[in-house]
Amino acid sequence: MGSYWWYITVLVRDDLVTAEENEEMLYSAADLSGSIGTEVQELPNGVRMRVYYRSDEELTYWRGRLLDALAEWPEARLEDMGKIESQPWSRQSENAFPPLDVGGRMTVLAPWHKGTEPKDRIPIYINPGSAFGTGYHESTQVALELFERHLEAGGRAKSVLDVGTGSGILTIAAIKLGARSVRSRDADPAVIDEARANLQLNGVDPASVELETGDLLSGVDGAFDLLFANILLDPLLEMLPNVKRVLSPDGAAIFSGMTIWEREHFLQALSESGLAVRYELTKEEWWGVAAQNQA
Ligand SMILES: C[S@@+](CC[C@H](N)C(=O)[O-])C[C@H]1O[C@@H](n2cnc3c(N)ncnc32)[C@H](O)[C@@H]1O
Repeated sequence: MGSYWWYITVLVRDDLVTAEENEEMLYSAADLSGSIGTEVQELPNGVRMRVYYRSDEELTYWRGRLLDALAEWPEARLEDMGKIESQPWSRQSENAFPPLDVGGRMTVLAPWHKGTEPKDRIPIYINPGSAFGTGYHESTQVALELFERHLEAGGRAKSVLDVGTGSGILTIAAIKLGARSVRSRDADPAVIDEARANLQLNGVDPASVELETGDLLSGVDGAFDLLFANILLDPLLEMLPNVKRVLSPDGAAIFSGMTIWEREHFLQALSESGLAVRYELTKEEWWGVAAQNQA
């Protein structure tokens, strides 16, 4: 066994059954899939569980086993996965979120670090809550760095679509780096208030962001300069055939949330979608890609 663990985070938002019932189902799925430990966070209308696995198998192996164990249970959604180097049991203290430089220009800070931001960087304030997107996850960093690269190369980002906005971090970055309007959506209605609070924390003009609950690209039309989608492989594959439809002729898309083992699969699908690869970026086992619309 290696000196690290894998984790997979599962989220259930369900008002129909009790938190105890949800937890029981998750515990039994974790057991069935061969996990070595779990960590539960009770949310106002759901439960989040981190399920830990041994590293003597690949993460994709455990993901498959957990998905099998959850097959009867469509409310449960995989939210996140990755590697944990040391004892995973988390500390929910203020020290757990020191300011973090991302890319060449941005620093992500919790609100209690306001006033300590480096002078020469763009601060992005995020209150670590139950929505995904504190900035600490590599998949978010991949998306933000690809965004910087897109801008450095002269790419447009005046009108932006952020699918799976979570904490709103990518929307805030877009506005702070020059976007005039952002449409931000998430399938999880529970994150919308948190995203709104984070926008406010950053002084973002509410009129410049349309924040909504929505599944992938359903109900979205338009010609956006830039699409952000930091989700997982399966929803990204599902939305890919419709991405061209929502981009301007010279628009671009930044896809993140996939592991390096999923790269080939996604690039194959991307090559059939009418978009061309511009940049790729890997952080730890997380991989993302910026792609350009093609005439
Ligand atoms: C990995 S988080 C990304 C959060 C943030 N954008 C970031 O980059 O840190 C993925 C987000 O996508 C949302 N999501 C998952 N499936 C979705 C879907 N089918 N449609 C829209 N949002 C979805 C989740 O609720 C979650 O908030």
